[in-house]
Amino acid sequence: MNIGILTGGGDCPGLNAVIRAVVVKATKHNHWRVTGILEGWRGLMKDGLAREILLPEVSGILGRGGTILKTSRTNPGKTPGGYDEVLSRSKKLGLDAVIAIGGEDTLGVASALQDHGLNVIGVPKTIDNDIVGTDYCFGFDTAVNTVMEAIDRVRTTTESHKRVMVVEVMGRHAGWIALQGGMAGGADEILLPERESDLNEICALIKRRHESGKDFSIVVVAEGAKVSVDGASGKQTMILQDGKLDEFGHVRLGGIGQTLSEQIEKCTGYETRMVMLGHVQRGGSPLAFDRYLCTRYGIEAVRLIERKEYGKMVCLRGNQISSIPLSEVAGRTRTVSEELFQEAALFFG
Ligand code: F6P
Repeated sequence: MNIGILTGGGDCPGLNAVIRAVVVKATKHNHWRVTGILEGWRGLMKDGLAREILLPEVSGILGRGGTILKTSRTNPGKTPGGYDEVLSRSKKLGLDAVIAIGGEDTLGVASALQDHGLNVIGVPKTIDNDIVGTDYCFGFDTAVNTVMEAIDRVRTTTESHKRVMVVEVMGRHAGWIALQGGMAGGADEILLPERESDLNEICALIKRRHESGKDFSIVVVAEGAKVSVDGASGKQTMILQDGKLDEFGHVRLGGIGQTLSEQIEKCTGYETRMVMLGHVQRGGSPLAFDRYLCTRYGIEAVRLIERKEYGKMVCLRGNQISSIPLSEVAGRTRTVSEELFQEAALFFG
């Protein structure tokens, strides 16, 4: 048996831990060959981007951030005949199956390739935690801890200067990082992509808080949050796109924190600063929860191949490792419910 393994999309803590688990289980215990495919799906669109991974290469990588396989946002579906190219290159490499570690885009490609006849297994990765069918995507827990620690640090300086601080976190379509990082850090207001917030209401809440004795506020905003403002022709949503699209058609986000802090300062009169946590959330060493989860995901991915249960994604339900057909995952997003948001809102102001 020769299995390919690749990491696609944005990186996150824990990728190397999955790679290590797959290589240990597949080579040491099953005596299979593991082929590392470099740079995500690009590694199967170009020659020279695949090589065998032996056991010594994964020694010591459990806690290392990033991915030894590198990553990209290459989408074979964008190139005419792209899926066939992936199939013929996989055949040339002698791959019996491919483990694709990635988020919604990488797993969407995996699902399409399964339909084209490639044996694929998916592993859910994204700090955004927005993949359906699993309670946790690996990388999320570590990212949330980074956000919490950042808010703890920002709190002391915000308090000293009696300021308002806007903390911008990642989260394109789903606000899990903002919700859980914000709640863990004791945010006074949390803004999500799932629900439109109104600038006047945000400012009124901050004013009420400051008038009732508190002299600082922390607002956590997801990069994809929707905030409506009064425009010339009525309410309009803040536009923050810089126009650049990736191969999956996603616009590059980032920037709502700056715009929002300027608007908050203007409408409340309180000095307002912002900090964008950006890729700091994706970097560094995975914490224990993610290292353990990644290890279990890696083992299960190999077990699915042993059982020839292709076209599936490993997942976590409660504390049980399980699996779900990729076709049920592709093209869907797991978002924050209104009920969960309302729990967070009990602590606002
Ligand atoms: O991987 C998901 C994510 O972290 C999103 O939250 C964010 O919008 C995006 O990746 C940023 O991607 P890139 O590093 O390619 O700019």
